[in-house]
Amino acid sequence: MTAKIIDGKSFAEGLRGRIAEHVGRLKQDHGITPGLAVVIVGHDPASQVYVTNKAKQTAEVGMASLKHELPEDTSQEALLALVQALNNDPAVHGILVQMPLPAQIDPVRVIETIAPEKDVDCFTPANVGKVQIGLPGPVSCTPLGCLMLLRDQLGSLAGLNAVIVGRSNLVGKPMAQLLLRENCTVTVAHSKTQNLADVVRQADIVIAAVGRPQMIKGEWIKSGATVIDVGINRIDAPERGDGKTRLVGDVAYAEASKIAGAITPVPGGVGPMTIACLLANTVTTACLINGLTPPSDLTA
Ligand code: GUN
Repeated sequence: MTAKIIDGKSFAEGLRGRIAEHVGRLKQDHGITPGLAVVIVGHDPASQVYVTNKAKQTAEVGMASLKHELPEDTSQEALLALVQALNNDPAVHGILVQMPLPAQIDPVRVIETIAPEKDVDCFTPANVGKVQIGLPGPVSCTPLGCLMLLRDQLGSLAGLNAVIVGRSNLVGKPMAQLLLRENCTVTVAHSKTQNLADVVRQADIVIAAVGRPQMIKGEWIKSGATVIDVGINRIDAPERGDGKTRLVGDVAYAEASKIAGAITPVPGGVGPMTIACLLANTVTTACLINGLTPPSDLTA
């Protein structure tokens, strides 16, 4: 079998198109322009690229994009004061503080300061709890993107065996909650799981979010399974002969794509969905803050 390649780039484009339509209606019918504030502290090059892309795509769907760049030596008090000001700003419906933060700042304090109704990363304990019990609100961006791709690929997920490899707060744990809500039978595996290959072989759906390049081998995949690769790992690529590196996922793609039914590539799979879902969450929070029902096609 040769797997169908799940084109996250094109799905994300379509999703951004739907988001732009919802934004247009919010403006026209309710006089609301959803606003997303992105805060970056310091000059981490990868973070700079992410934040620039987030700001650009926010503006492209017609939202207000507010970027705050703070110096590397910013104090915790100064950052918390900015977050408080954004909490109180009625033009702001979403607040994202780019991680990681410099060592002098405690990320937990920052997350706890973000108003849950504006927490478009779904990092605050209040929103994590809402996802768990199925209340409306923002949903962790990468897991939401994975869920949208899975629904598009498979329709109903009820009764399917889902194995998530990785138990991070950012991906593994919220992904498990979302798949449980879809009536999957969910296993969360991790670095200490015994016989990981045999666990993965049971899966109709594999979510690879372990952060180790090409760790999940083709022979671990059940024939016809749907494989969602969240990993983004940069590795040496001597075969290129030009000294450059290349990006790979957590799945050994060449092997797995001969056995899986469908698979996301890296790059071009889950990655583009994460920012699109951040924008989707900003529409959701803008609606909820204004007492409107959020669009059902933008959430879990
Ligand atoms: N750094 C890397 N990914 C993310 C993310 O999804 N949200 C935030 N706030 N920081 C990040």
